[in-house]
Amino acid sequence: MVSTKRIYEKLRGKFLVLDGIDGAGKGAQIERLQAGFDSCSIEYIRTRDPGGTPIGDRIRHVLLDFDLSEMDVNCETFLFMASRAQLVWDVITPALSVGTAVLGDRYVSATCAYQGAAGYDPKRTVELARFAIGDVWPHLTIILDMEPDEAFKRTNRKSPAQRKGVGGKGQTMLFHDVHTDAMESRPKEFHERVRELFLELAGVYPAPVVVVSGDGSVEEVHARILDAVDHATL
Ligand code: TYD
Repeated sequence: MVSTKRIYEKLRGKFLVLDGIDGAGKGAQIERLQAGFDSCSIEYIRTRDPGGTPIGDRIRHVLLDFDLSEMDVNCETFLFMASRAQLVWDVITPALSVGTAVLGDRYVSATCAYQGAAGYDPKRTVELARFAIGDVWPHLTIILDMEPDEAFKRTNRKSPAQRKGVGGKGQTMLFHDVHTDAMESRPKEFHERVRELFLELAGVYPAPVVVVSGDGSVEEVHARILDAVDHATL
């Protein structure tokens, strides 16, 4: 417990992002980290990307109201980045400037992987991000890794293996808060490519990235995340 508190203390005033393929357990791990911050009395905020600001939420609605197979991937990428620009200046920078930790639910890393899988070069995403976010890169990005079929089992959705070839190369509807879920309309190959791009992220990202296996119980994965934080230079 003492050493756990020491690890959480390391995160005070830092920007930590969790990312990974759908179903890898990001939501549960973010909640577990929130409980840790609370029990160690460390000030933090949790961000939602895309969204997280009134303007960002409007952009999120544009992304979720349209069939993305009709949206050009450049447009899609710029919309994610526009939402993020607002999040950085309205929420992330002010929090960090007063020593509040920021727990990010996805960030530029997600655009590198998802829009990368839809054809937008991750290196270009990083360049574009420099205009949108300046130098507000996370102190640490943790990618939860898992085999896509396993991840889908956790979400109680139809395995991507059963949907091979359905849905074209792009994403259609993205979010859980719409009727047609993105996960049911994207082909297995898309998720495999997203996973690959997450695994290759450290090679293109200008900030530290650590891959952590998402296999096992919430507590087992949480322990791996704390270990990654412990070993990182923040
Ligand atoms: P997710 O975090 O899973 O939101 P929710 O829990 O509301 O469904 O993100 C929704 C989808 O958006 C997910 O499939 C990943 C995708 N996404 C991108 O394609 N690019 C991005 O830059 C981000 C942040 C998310």
